[in-house]
Amino acid sequence: MKLLEGKTAIVTGASRGIGRAIAITLAKAGANIAFTDLFYDDIAKSLENELNELNVKAKGYASNAGDFNDCNSVVENILSDFGRIDVLVNNAGITKDNLLMRMTEEDWDAVIAVNLKSVFNMTKAVQRTMLKQRSGSIINISSVVGVGGNAGQSNYSASKAGIIGFTKSIAKELGSRNIRTNAVAPGFIVTEMTGKLPKEVVEGWFEKIPLKRGGTPEEVANVVLFLASDMASYVSGQVINICGAMTT
Ligand code: NAI
Repeated sequence: MKLLEGKTAIVTGASRGIGRAIAITLAKAGANIAFTDLFYDDIAKSLENELNELNVKAKGYASNAGDFNDCNSVVENILSDFGRIDVLVNNAGITKDNLLMRMTEEDWDAVIAVNLKSVFNMTKAVQRTMLKQRSGSIINISSVVGVGGNAGQSNYSASKAGIIGFTKSIAKELGSRNIRTNAVAPGFIVTEMTGKLPKEVVEGWFEKIPLKRGGTPEEVANVVLFLASDMASYVSGQVINICGAMTT
């Protein structure tokens, strides 16, 4: 039997990058996948097809993870399409980097809404279902900069640190109902998000990483699979760094 056979997982912001790798990895482990992204476009459709070829039920939904009402309605739709929710992966995230001197209020608010409020929105929306099922695994994608901070990313770091506080609190709040909540803190993962950085900056980062390279989305997805599955049945309230021993 596969690790997630018969389970349903929601992955937010899954059309590309780390979210896409998580959706595919969980599907390979037998999970049915409901994934969201801002738009249900050709990229989302291609993921839906790829997942269906893995012989699981899969469906993409257009939903803004930063919007409270959008999250409630997408979770309602997922529940009526899939019948249950076992795993929630809060992956949707954006960067709007700038030194504090130049950071606008809009850049602050947007990053906090998409990265942090989204985690509240989605967790709250699935809570009742997981409570009724008396089981669930919630995995939030934080970042090493949420643990250690980073110049030029005060909004992003604050959102990712906030995710850690939320994760630890919800683990304590929902633990008695067999709902586990954990965060992962990826370091430098090669995706479109990091693809925006200049080549010299990327090489500078690689030099500082003891494993001397960036991570892949699949390397993040494998840790998420572990936390989603019963292999991690006594792991809750934790933050697992996936960073090649990098320190920020
Ligand atoms: P990405 O930019 O390649 O993908 C992010 C996905 O989220 C996109 O498909 C985007 O359309 C979607 N998205 C953006 N705003 C959304 C919203 N409001 N509602 C729903 N979906 C939305 O980014 P990547 O690199 O795959 O990052 C995924 C997560 O991992 C993010 O939370 C990011 O902060 C985190 N992370 C990434 C690291 C990296 O090095 N790439 C390092 C540490 C954390």
